[in-house]
Amino acid sequence: MKVMKIEGKNKLSGTIKISGAKNSSVALLPASILADTDVTICNVPEITDTDVLCEMLEYLGADVRRASESVVISPSTIVNKEIPKEFTKKLRASYYFMGALLGKYKHVEIFLPGGCSIGSRPIDLHLKGFEALGATITNENEKYIVEAKELKGANIYLDIASVGATINIMLAATLAKGKTIIDNAAKEPEIVNIATYLNNMGAKITGAGTSEIRITGVDKLHGCFHEVIPDRIEAGTYIIIGALLGENLKVYNVIPEHLESVTSKLVEMGGDLQIGSDYIIVNARNNYKKTHIKTMVYPGFPTDLQQPFSILFSRCNGTSIVEETIFENRFMHLKELEKMGMSCKSEGMVATFVGPNNLKGCEVSATDLRAGASLVTAALIADGTTTIRNVEYILRGYEGIVEKLTDVGAKIKIEEIE
Ligand code: EPZ
Repeated sequence: MKVMKIEGKNKLSGTIKISGAKNSSVALLPASILADTDVTICNVPEITDTDVLCEMLEYLGADVRRASESVVISPSTIVNKEIPKEFTKKLRASYYFMGALLGKYKHVEIFLPGGCSIGSRPIDLHLKGFEALGATITNENEKYIVEAKELKGANIYLDIASVGATINIMLAATLAKGKTIIDNAAKEPEIVNIATYLNNMGAKITGAGTSEIRITGVDKLHGCFHEVIPDRIEAGTYIIIGALLGENLKVYNVIPEHLESVTSKLVEMGGDLQIGSDYIIVNARNNYKKTHIKTMVYPGFPTDLQQPFSILFSRCNGTSIVEETIFENRFMHLKELEKMGMSCKSEGMVATFVGPNNLKGCEVSATDLRAGASLVTAALIADGTTTIRNVEYILRGYEGIVEKLTDVGAKIKIEEIE
């Protein structure tokens, strides 16, 4: 088993380059199925999530060639067959194969395990969209068969502005007959990145990034060249770390407007940020003003950053609050943070933090990807050494995290233990 060991309190200075967005890449890779000829995607982060998706594409018969952060996919040799649980239990975002295979072959068979640690994470809105386009769905103990004689454009209203459902319906609608409108669509930047990719293939999609996306079906899609946008959640994580330990820490390859809700909150608390065109320079402060965060769909405060962000409350005088409105179980990291000396508790979807706290290194366990990020952040400011178990969660979403932090002065390593 792998563990991460971090020795705290080292100042961090220098430059951290942000990788391509995990939450774009996990949709762009399956979307490649829709093209008839080769696609090249640049800036794909080398993380376990993208490894699994490339394996799934190869399992289906695609030729996949990876060279550092570029992936070339030849979809012409794909055979549409059932996708087994061995893949989908590793990665929930494998549900994007549903929209891509349904869109291309009008049939998909996939084992999709239920929720995960942060919530039940149903896919009812994805399925509602597929049915609206004319598909029938059968589901026998976690195996979904989704098929249609023909897919026809439809008007689809999403009860929740779901990122996954918005993308999955977009994938299925690109080759449908006629017009599809997705109303109350999610507006995350990753959705724009995927729509641009599909349009580069010859799709006709307008309105991505707004709450109304229009798709006019086309007959076929061709290969193209595309680039993954920078990962705003990875960037936000390092900016938070910089606000705790940075000495002119430069986080670059960033699209600052994607992080406006986070950087403006940090400035409100007394943060020292220099925001450039594609970088943010951050300096640590010893104390911050307490605050109240409410996670919202984009452009609101991202749910994926509330966990690492809350480590800043150890530098606040008084009570700070996090109201989580997206996932029902996203506070499992609190009991691990308490072990390190944070004073925090949660009631339903609200967590309260009373600062200031001096954190001490100890043994903790990651319960999900962003919980792991909060433990890394806490360990970097704690006295002594922290050992983080279940480090696989962290390696799912942070490319080269040990190298990136070591390069700016952190004492961090990964060890194998029996
Ligand atoms: C995406 O998850 C991201 N994952 C999540 O990031 C992110 O937290 C989330 O969007 C919100 O921004 C990827 O992009 C791979 P949703 P997704 O559908 O698409 C409910 C990370 O750490 N819902 O927008 O699964 C759902 O249960 C991960 O990188 C339904 O009820 O999120 C949740 O409460 C974690 N029915 C809410 O909507 C549905 O059919 C938002 O979910 C779909 C969703």
